[in-house]
Amino acid sequence: MRQDHKPSVLFVCLGNICRSPTAEAVFRARAKAAGLDVEIDSAGTGAWHAGEPPDARAMDAGERRGYDFTGQSARAVEGLDFARFDYVLAMDSENLAHLNAMKPVTYSGHLGLFCDFSGAQDTGRDVPDPYYGGPQGFETVLDMIERASDGLIAKIRS
Ligand code: 4NP
Repeated sequence: MRQDHKPSVLFVCLGNICRSPTAEAVFRARAKAAGLDVEIDSAGTGAWHAGEPPDARAMDAGERRGYDFTGQSARAVEGLDFARFDYVLAMDSENLAHLNAMKPVTYSGHLGLFCDFSGAQDTGRDVPDPYYGGPQGFETVLDMIERASDGLIAKIRS
């Protein structure tokens, strides 16, 4: 990566209302605390919730840990995102398959699972979809996303 280039990261889940908005909020806070200047956004492989704010349960859980979801609005991932983002990070393997199918052959960035940045504990794992489950699911999402965020920050710094 060029030294003068501001790194950019796109987090992608299915609906862009639970996991990827949480990743956006957590990574924004932790990158800022680490003094990293990064462009950050999130999107969904589905468009059903386009224009909606994040799920209230995801925001409640994240805000209890001090994260800020202000200004977030769901959108669908698009081909142009591969021109904008150095890292396109999927929350699960289904999202990753969808992204691999739409990735331009010329994409030279990193497309992969977000949890692969977590280190041994979560490598290769999906962030489980919390949408149809109970409140503990949102805590699990936060725990996994916090670990992966710290690993990604270390990677971007290196
Ligand atoms: P997300 O969760 O992919 O983490 O935003 C979901 C949100 C909505 C739906 C599924 C998952 N849905 O089926 O509407």
